[in-house]
Amino acid sequence: MSIEEEKFSGGVAVVTGAGAGIGMGFARRLAAVGMTVVVTDVSGERAEKVAAEIRDSGGKAEAMVVDVSQPAELDRLAKTVFEKHGAVRVLVNNAGIETIGYTWEIPVERWEATLNINIHGIVHGCRAFVPYMLKQGGEAWIANLASIGSFGTMPTQTSYIMSKHAVQAFSECLYLEMELAEAPIHVCSVIPGMLKTSIFDVDAGKGEPEGSDRHRKAMRDMMQAYGMDLDEGCAEFVRKMAENRFWVDSQPDMTREAVERRIQYMQNQERPELAEQARALL
Ligand SMILES: NC(=O)c1ccc[n+]([C@@H]2O[C@H](COP(=O)([O-])OP(=O)(O)OC[C@H]3O[C@@H](n4cnc5c(N)ncnc54)[C@H](O)[C@@H]3O)[C@@H](O)[C@H]2O)c1
Repeated sequence: MSIEEEKFSGGVAVVTGAGAGIGMGFARRLAAVGMTVVVTDVSGERAEKVAAEIRDSGGKAEAMVVDVSQPAELDRLAKTVFEKHGAVRVLVNNAGIETIGYTWEIPVERWEATLNINIHGIVHGCRAFVPYMLKQGGEAWIANLASIGSFGTMPTQTSYIMSKHAVQAFSECLYLEMELAEAPIHVCSVIPGMLKTSIFDVDAGKGEPEGSDRHRKAMRDMMQAYGMDLDEGCAEFVRKMAENRFWVDSQPDMTREAVERRIQYMQNQERPELAEQARALL
């Protein structure tokens, strides 16, 4: 039996934004190691498709429509899942969007959507689920989606980058809160390097300023050319979670490089500087 099966088999997992990309990859992998997966997404159609695929391949899954930018929907999700299943062993706060454009050109609605989904979706996922997890007793895992962008900067991806810095800080503080409260809940920061997903698809950028699609397409092409296979990356995440790691990354070299660059920048109190490879994408 693998460590993932040992830790997770027979339990219930909840994944947000699981109708595509990394959330879907997590849902598939958690089902494959024997969990019942609640596949949630803002798109009911996408969530149902992923849940049906899991069931068709012999796993256990159910779909629910949840918009993580609405705290009340996360409260409803937690209540519904705990009433039905009694316990949740794994919560993956995954839903997130990229937003491209100059800060001053991005409409208010897109700024708010980015921060509400990427930051508040994770905060309120934890706020809604942790009280139930504490009550159920036993070990549980919360995985929050950060990024290697949590340690760097990228102009015109400002709202996304700042949201990922916030998520990393949030997960570190939450980890320490669990320690302080002597709670058996493992908090993990999931740090994808680059996995092949639909995050840079043109229709994921509705509401971005005109002209953003050029950068979006360049990012999408780079992701398709150099990104890691989704299922391979998600298998790596689930294994590292089962090993109770805090740093749960897909491409450790990319994480190390980003962190080392950040340390050097801070130690030398450098001015922000755009790397040549990044400039080529803009
Ligand atoms: N793909 C990568 O290489 C990469 C790198 C670093 C971080 N991440 C992070 O991984 C997470 C998933 O990204 P992805 O690349 O799989 O994206 P994706 O666009 O492929 O999938 C995101 C899913 O989230 C859903 N979603 C969007 N808004 C939502 C909302 N308000 N409520 C609920 N669901 C919503 C979408 O419908 C979609 O199914 C994000 O937090 C992202 O920042 C991804």
